[in-house]
Amino acid sequence: MRQFSITIAGGGSTFTPGIIMMLLDHQEEFPIRRLCLYDNDRERQAVIGQACGILLKERAPQMEFSYTVDPEEAFTGTDFVMAHIRVGKYAMREKDEKIPLKYGVVGQETCGPGGIAYGMRSIGGILEILDYMEQYSPNAWMLNYSNPAAIVAEATRRLRPGSRIINICDMPLGIMVRMAKILGISEKDLDISYFGLNHFGWWTQVKDKDGNDLMPRLKEYVRENGYDINIETDQHADQSWHETFLKVRDVYAVDPDTLPNTYLKYYLYPDYVVEHTDPHHTRANQVMEGREKEVFSAARDIIEKGSAKGCGFMADDHASYIVDLARALAFNTKEKMLLIVPNEGAIENFDPEAMVEIPCIVGKDGYEKISQGRIPQFQKGMMEQQVSVEKLVVEAWMEGSYQKLWQALTLSRTVPSAAVAKKILDDLIEANREYWPELH
Ligand code: NAD
Ligand code: G6P
Ligand code: MN
Repeated sequence: MRQFSITIAGGGSTFTPGIIMMLLDHQEEFPIRRLCLYDNDRERQAVIGQACGILLKERAPQMEFSYTVDPEEAFTGTDFVMAHIRVGKYAMREKDEKIPLKYGVVGQETCGPGGIAYGMRSIGGILEILDYMEQYSPNAWMLNYSNPAAIVAEATRRLRPGSRIINICDMPLGIMVRMAKILGISEKDLDISYFGLNHFGWWTQVKDKDGNDLMPRLKEYVRENGYDINIETDQHADQSWHETFLKVRDVYAVDPDTLPNTYLKYYLYPDYVVEHTDPHHTRANQVMEGREKEVFSAARDIIEKGSAKGCGFMADDHASYIVDLARALAFNTKEKMLLIVPNEGAIENFDPEAMVEIPCIVGKDGYEKISQGRIPQFQKGMMEQQVSVEKLVVEAWMEGSYQKLWQALTLSRTVPSAAVAKKILDDLIEANREYWPELH
C-alpha cells in the first residue's frame, strides 16, 4: 500500500494533536510515512511538537516525525498540507471580537467586522504557505481550515487560480453528527443537499441511504430544540456553543423550508447576539481559558512524564473531516463532502464567480461539484450581500483600498450604518498595523 507524507501548517495549533490522534487511528487504511509540523512561532510549536514526538514514538515508531520553522524542510516531499494557521493568534482574535462590540456590533471570529479584520490578516499568511508548497512539492494538495475560510477561499480563487488548494469547514459535519444523533443513525448514512457560502448555508434535503426523507423528523426536533443535544465528547461542548445550537430554533423559524447553519444567527439576530455577549469576556477568552489551556497542559504533561500513556489528546469531528478528505484524494474513495469551491453554475441563479459551499464527490483527481439547482429569493438575497462583503475585502487587500474595506464593513448585515462601519474600521486599522497591508 502506498505511504503518504503529511505537513501540518500551524503545527502549534490547538487542533494539531487531534489530527495526529485521528491519523494514528487510521494507520491501516491510510499509512503515513512522514509527518512534519510547520509553524512560524518556534516556541509555541515546540510544546506541541515535543509532545507529539513522544506520542508517535510510542504508537507509530516507524513514522518519520519532525517539527520545524524552516519552510524548505517542512514542504519538501509532501503529499498533503493540512493548514490551520491563525495569523495574529488569540491576542488578535480577542481584538477582532472586542472592537466591534465597543460600538454595539457583533464581535465574532469569522462573521461581521471581526471576520473581515481576520481575513485581512489571513490572506498573506495562506498565500505564503501555498507558495512554499508549490515551490517544494508542486503536486501536493493543500487542505485548508484556516479562517475566515470564505475570504481565504475568495483570495486564493483570485490570486492563485490554478492552485491545488481545497478550503473546508467542520461546522456542517458537526451539525450533521447532531442530526444523525437526533435520528438515531450514523452520520455516514446521511445523504444531503446543501448550498451557501462558508458559515452561511442551508440544508435543502436530508435523506437516508435508502432515499427516505428525514427532513420532517429533523424539523420537528429543530423547531423545539435547534440542534441542541447531549454529546459527550465534542469540540462544540462549551456553554456558548450550547446557546448557539439552541438559537437555531429562531434561525430556522425565518425559513422553515430549509435547515440552517448555526452561523446565520450572527446575520439574522445580531441585536440578540450583542445583548447576550459580555464585551469584556468574549469567545477568545473562553478558548484561551479552555481549549488552549487544556491542550497545552496535556502536551506539557506528556513532556514531563516522557510518555503519552493515557494522554489527554482527543480526536474529534474536526480531525475526522480533514483526514477523510485526505483519504478520499489519496485512495479515490469518491466520498460526498461539503467543500468551498468556485460556483461556476453549480448554484444556477447565483454569481458564477463566487466561492460557495456545496457537496462534491472527492477522488484521486480532486473534486466534482454536485449541482444544487436554483435557490430561493431569501437566501439568494442574503448571499449576494455577503459574497459582496467577502469580495470587497479581497479587493481591499489587493489594492490597499481603504474605500473598499469601508464598503465591505458597511455592506455587512451585522453593521447598522456607514458611520459605525467607519469608526470600527479606524480602530481595526490601528489594532492591525503589524498585519494588514497599508490602506490609502
Ligand atoms: P491556534 O492559535 O492555536 O493555532 C494557530 C497556529 O498558527 C499558531 O501556532 C500560530 O503560531 C500559527 N501561525 C500563525 N501564522 C502563521 C504563519 N503565517 N505561518 C505558519 N504558522 C502560523 O489556533 P486554533 O484555535 O487552533 O485554530 C487554528 C485555525 O484553524 C484558525 O484559523 C481557526 O479559525 C481555524 N479553524 C477552522 C475551522 C473550520 O471550520 N474551517 C475549524 C476549527 C478551526
Ligand atoms: C466551528 C467553525 C470553525 C471555527 C470554530 C470556532 O468549528 O466551523 O470555523 O473556527 O467553530 O470554535 P472556537 O471553539 O474556536 O470558538
Ligand atoms: Mn468553519
